[in-house]
Amino acid sequence: MKKVYVGMSADLIHPGHLNIIKEASKLGDVIIGLLTDKAIASYKRLPSLKYEQRKIVIENIKGVTEVIPQHELDYTPNLRLIKPDYVVHGDDWKQGVQRKTRQNVIDVLAEWGGKLHEVPYTKGISSTQLNQSLKEIGTTPEIRMDRLRRLIESKPIVKVLEAHNGLTGLIVENISVDQEGRKKEFDAMWLSSLTDSTAKGKPDIEAVDVTSRLHGLNDILEVTTKPIIYDGDTGGIPEHFVFTVKTLERLGVSAIIIEDKTGLKKNSLFGTDVSQTQASIQDFSNKIRAGKLVQVTKSFMIIARIESLILKQGVDDAITRAAAYIEAGADGIMIHSKEKNGEEILEFCTRYKKLEKRVPLVAVPSSYNHMTEQELIEAGVNVVIYANHLLRSAYPAMVNVAKSILVNERSLEADGECMSIKEILNLIPGTK
Ligand code: SPV
Ligand code: MG
Repeated sequence: MKKVYVGMSADLIHPGHLNIIKEASKLGDVIIGLLTDKAIASYKRLPSLKYEQRKIVIENIKGVTEVIPQHELDYTPNLRLIKPDYVVHGDDWKQGVQRKTRQNVIDVLAEWGGKLHEVPYTKGISSTQLNQSLKEIGTTPEIRMDRLRRLIESKPIVKVLEAHNGLTGLIVENISVDQEGRKKEFDAMWLSSLTDSTAKGKPDIEAVDVTSRLHGLNDILEVTTKPIIYDGDTGGIPEHFVFTVKTLERLGVSAIIIEDKTGLKKNSLFGTDVSQTQASIQDFSNKIRAGKLVQVTKSFMIIARIESLILKQGVDDAITRAAAYIEAGADGIMIHSKEKNGEEILEFCTRYKKLEKRVPLVAVPSSYNHMTEQELIEAGVNVVIYANHLLRSAYPAMVNVAKSILVNERSLEADGECMSIKEILNLIPGTK
C-alpha cells in the first residue's frame, strides 16, 4: 500500500475534511498529521477541542489508518520521518498565507519522489465560517475558564490586554492583525483594579467593592468569549476572599491575581512614594490556601502577586516569597516592578528559573515597556499583561474633543478625532 499524508487541525469536522480523507484513501493508507494545540496556536486561534479530543474524532473516521501529531505548522519534520508517496491537501492553499508551506511540501516530497495531490476546495463551508458562527453563539463558563491553562500550555507567551467595560472587552475579543501569515490577537482580558476604579472616577484603593466590579465583569462576559484574569487587589481578609474565589469560578473567570499587601491598598506604581505594607509570608500563604480549598474546578487559578520589588525589599525577598507561595498552592506567580530599566525583573526571572518547583510566571511591563514579548519569553515569562492601555489611550482623546468643542463652540473641528456616525451605528451588531 502507498502511504498518504494529510495534515489537519480537524477542530470542527465538516464535509470538506471528509472529502479530502475520501480522496486520500483512494491513493493508499491515510496517515493524518494532526496539528497539536501548540502548532495551531502558532498561527491562529487555539482550537475549540483539545488535541486528545480531536484525535478521538479523527481516528474514527472511515478511511483513516493512523493519526500522528504534527508539532509545527511546517510539514517537513513529519514528511521526512514518514516519507509518504503522497500528501493530500485542499487546493485552497495555492494563494494566500499558506503558499510558502505548500512550496515546502512540494520541495521536500521531491527528495524521495513523493507527489502533492490537491483536492478541489469544497464550496459553501469553511472552518473560518464555522468558527465565526461559534463565536456568535458564545461560550460556556467551563470552556472559557479552562482556556487560560490551555493557552499557557500552547503558546510561548499569553498576551493579555486590559478591558474595563463591554466595549473594551469587544476590542480585546475582536481586534487582530495579519502579519507574515500569522493572525495576531490578544488571548485574554485583564480586569484591572486601576482601570475599573478610574472608569468609575474612583481611586484604586479597593473602594470599588467586588459586587460593583462584578457588574462590569458581567457586561464583559456577555459579549466576549476569551478568558479573563481578574485583578483581586489584596483579596481582602481570607474569610471574604473565599467568596470572591467561588463567585469568579462560577462565572467562568479563569484566574484571580492577589497581591501580598495588607491594610489600605494603594496602586503599586506609586512604589514607596506612598505608605504601603507588605503582608507577612505566613498570612498571605494562608490566604492562598483558603482560596485553593474552596475552589470547585481544577481549572481556576489563584495567582500570587509579589510586591517586594515595588516596596524595595529586593530580589532575595521576592524569590523567598515565590517559593513560599508556590508551596501554599499558588497556580501562578506575578512579579511586579516599576523600575524603568527592567533589570530587577530580569534578575528575578533568572533566579526564578532555578527554583525546583515552579508555576507559570506573569509580568506587567507598564514601566519597563521597552521590553519586547520575545525578551520576556527568553526570561521565562509565560503571561504578559498590558494592564491599563485602553483606558489610558481613550482618556486623552476624550479630553481633546471636549476642549475642541469648548474652543470652537461647535463640534465640526473635533470630527477628525471621532469615529463617524455611520461607524458607530455599525460598530455593534444588532444596532440597526
Ligand atoms: C492594575 O492594573 O490595577 C494593577 C497593575 O494592579 S498596576 O496598576 O501596575 O498596579
Ligand atoms: Mg490593581
